Amino acid sequence: MTITPDTARTAPAPKGTGSLVASDGARYARIWGVGGYRPERVVPNSELVERIDSSDEWIRERSGIVSRRYAAAEETVVDMSEAATRQALEAAGINASQLGAIVIATVTHPYQTPAAAPILANRLGVTCAAFDISAACAGYCHGISLANDMIRGGSAEYVLVVGVEKLSDFTDWDDRGTAFIFGDGAGAAVIGPSDTPGIGPTIWGSDGAQWQAIMQREPWTDYRRPQVGEGPFDKTVQPRNWPAIGMAGQSVFRWAVWGMAPVAQQAIDKAGISIDDLDAFIPHQANMRIIDAMIKQLKLPADIPVARDIAETANTSAASIPLATERMLRQKEIPSGGLALQIGFGAGLVYAAQVVVIP
Ligand code: COA
Repeated sequence: MTITPDTARTAPAPKGTGSLVASDGARYARIWGVGGYRPERVVPNSELVERIDSSDEWIRERSGIVSRRYAAAEETVVDMSEAATRQALEAAGINASQLGAIVIATVTHPYQTPAAAPILANRLGVTCAAFDISAACAGYCHGISLANDMIRGGSAEYVLVVGVEKLSDFTDWDDRGTAFIFGDGAGAAVIGPSDTPGIGPTIWGSDGAQWQAIMQREPWTDYRRPQVGEGPFDKTVQPRNWPAIGMAGQSVFRWAVWGMAPVAQQAIDKAGISIDDLDAFIPHQANMRIIDAMIKQLKLPADIPVARDIAETANTSAASIPLATERMLRQKEIPSGGLALQIGFGAGLVYAAQVVVIP
C-alpha cells in the first residue's frame, strides 16, 4: 500500500489533560410531586360504538374501558401539559424557576418541530433546557430514567417530566381495533435531589422487529408536496389519508402479556426488593386484561393497590402512568413514601420499568 501524505501526517500532541471539569450531581433522586389534567369532555362507549359496529358491553369486557376524556378542539398538548405541570410544581413545593430541564414525552404534539417542551417552558416563564422524547406509551418511564440520570449526573437539580397525549386527533373513528382505545390527558412529575434512593434502576429496551405493530399509518410526507423544481406548495391539497395510529391488537396484546411481566420482575429484583415490599403497581393503562394477566404472572399479593385508571381514562399513552399515580394519591389509595412499580410499553415496540418512591 502506498502511504499518502494524509495518513502519514502525525497527529498533534494533546495540549494537556486535567483541565476539564466534570459535572457532579446529587447522590440520589426522587419524585417530589405529581399532577394530572383530564379534559372536561367525558365520552362514554355509547358515543363510539355505532361507527364500529360494537357495543358498550363488548368494549367493557374486552378492554375494561367504560369512558374516556377528549380534549376540546382548540385544546393543545401544551395546554394540557401546563395544567398538569402547575399541579405538579405545587405538589413538589418548588417554583418553575428552579427547573433545570423540561422533558415532554408525547407522540401527539402535531408539529415535527419545534418540540412542545420549549413552548411549555415559555408559558412557565423559564428558559431551561426543554425537549421532547418519543417513546410512545413508555415515554413517561423513559423520562423518569433520564431525569434520575440528569440529577445524579449534575445536568439539572430539578427536572419536570410530562407525559401528554391528544390521541383523539390521531384516532380513526372507523377502525374497530383502535377507535375505542384511546383517550386524552396529561400527567406531570417533578423530580429532584434526594438523600436516599427514590428511583430504582430502570429496565428498558426495544423490540424494533415489531415496529409495525403500532404505528402512525401514513408519514407526514404523504401530504402532496412539491418536488424539486416544481412550483410552490399547494395548500389546498389534502393528505391521502389522515395519519391515524393503527395497531395489530392481538400481537401487541400477546407481547404485553408475555413479555412485560419478566421486565417488571427484573425492575423489582434490580431495586433490591421483593414483590411483597410494593405498596402499588402502576402499569401502563392499555387494557384491563393485560393488567390482570401481569398481576397473575408476577404473583402480586392481593392487598397491593393496582392502577385501574383505564376504566375512565382509556389508554392515554405517555400520560397514563402519571395520571393513574395522581389519581391514586388523590384518592389516598397509596401511601406517600411507599414503593410503586411502574412499567410503560408501547409503539416501537419499546418498554421501560422501574420502582419509585411514591411522592
Ligand atoms: N367491537 C366488537 N367486536 C369486535 C371489535 C369491536 N370494536 N373489534 C374486534 N371485534 C371482534 C372481532 O371481529 C372478532 O370476532 P370473531 O371472533 O367473530 O372473528 C372478535 O371481536 C375478537 O377480535 P380480536 O381482534 O381478537 O379482539 P381482542 O380480544 O384481541 O380485543 C383489543 C381487541 C384491541 C381490545 C385487544 O387486542 C387489545 O387490547 N390489544 C392490545 C392493545 C394495547 O395494549 N395497545 C396499546 C399498547 S401501548
